Amino acid sequence: MIITCPHCKKQHNIDEKRIPPNVRMARCQGCGQQFPLDIPREEPVPSPFQPATIKTAPHPAPAPAPDSAPAPTTRASQGTRRIGVSLSKGGVGKTTTSVNLAAGLALAGKRVLLVDTDTQGQSSFMLGVKPKGGLTELVTEELSPKEAIIQARKNLWLLAGGKSLAGLKRLIDRKDYGGELTIAQALTPLEKDYDYVVVDTSPGWDPLTVNVLFYVNELMTPVSLEVMSIQGFGEFLKSIASIQKFRKEVSLRYILPTFRDMRVKRGGEFLEEIEKIYGDKVCTPIRYNVRLSEAPAYGQTIFEFAPGSNGAQDYRELVRKVTGEPNLFT
Ligand SMILES: Nc1ncnc2c1ncn2[C@@H]1O[C@H](COP(=O)(O)OP(=O)(O)OP(=O)(O)O)[C@@H](O)[C@H]1O
Ligand SMILES: [Mg+2]
Repeated sequence: MIITCPHCKKQHNIDEKRIPPNVRMARCQGCGQQFPLDIPREEPVPSPFQPATIKTAPHPAPAPAPDSAPAPTTRASQGTRRIGVSLSKGGVGKTTTSVNLAAGLALAGKRVLLVDTDTQGQSSFMLGVKPKGGLTELVTEELSPKEAIIQARKNLWLLAGGKSLAGLKRLIDRKDYGGELTIAQALTPLEKDYDYVVVDTSPGWDPLTVNVLFYVNELMTPVSLEVMSIQGFGEFLKSIASIQKFRKEVSLRYILPTFRDMRVKRGGEFLEEIEKIYGDKVCTPIRYNVRLSEAPAYGQTIFEFAPGSNGAQDYRELVRKVTGEPNLFT
């Protein structure tokens, strides 16, 4: 059949039988842009989450997710929860949140895999560990899952990011079909060992961010209580909506106000506005706390570095919200 790229109008003659049914996006070989594939199928299309059988698949394809997964609450009812911490704007507290949320969940006795999809690779630094590889090496099979995933703390494992992710981006870019499922395909066979997979994302919007949105079911979006960040939030919501057209399982579950400075009145006003619109999706804010910015230099989480600080208290509260267990840490 002939499909036309909506960007450059180049026509492609494709054999639709060779395209796995779960693949939703294609890359135009003319202009290099991705576009949705609209192929009539004879059979009902399974969940788009079911990873494609593509050449670089390091593991057997897993079972498909339920067609319409409601937002999970506990492991007992839903299996592993996949939470992406994401906002295109930089410096809003994504990595601080990913690391401390993951560490807090681990302290609460949950088994947690923290996945770093940022070329800055700051999660390893913040946890004071030096893995020999991570996500890229897992996908390319240079390392086995046991080698790529390192235990950083009791109950807490890390699949590191770092500079090598630039190579993973190129690998994703070169795939004509199903590139957006690369991370899902690598992580899904591993996730059964964990109660939570927490994925940190880089600022901006790149093939890895899109991959994360094709893997996680729940999004946590840190919003720094300043004007620019709130504008960035609006833009981010539009991008999410564009992914949800192809993958309805992904939903914005938590909005996490960060850098709350009680002395700044405007921050409180923004918070009220967000709460009016998003109700109980809005988490108790993370206050501005200098201890949070000091802890990484010591390779420690906030619970290790300053357990009595406001930062530790606020991230404990976040763990209670995410787990739905109000009595944790009491
Ligand atoms: N609540 C807070 N109070 C004070 N400092 C904070 C707080 N949260 C994060 N920081 C500091 O702010 C800086 C940016 O935080 P972080 O790296 O978590 O943001 P990010 O969104 O991951 O950034 P990027 O988009 O570059 O990945 C870091 O130096 C961090 O230590
Ligand atoms: Mg970061």
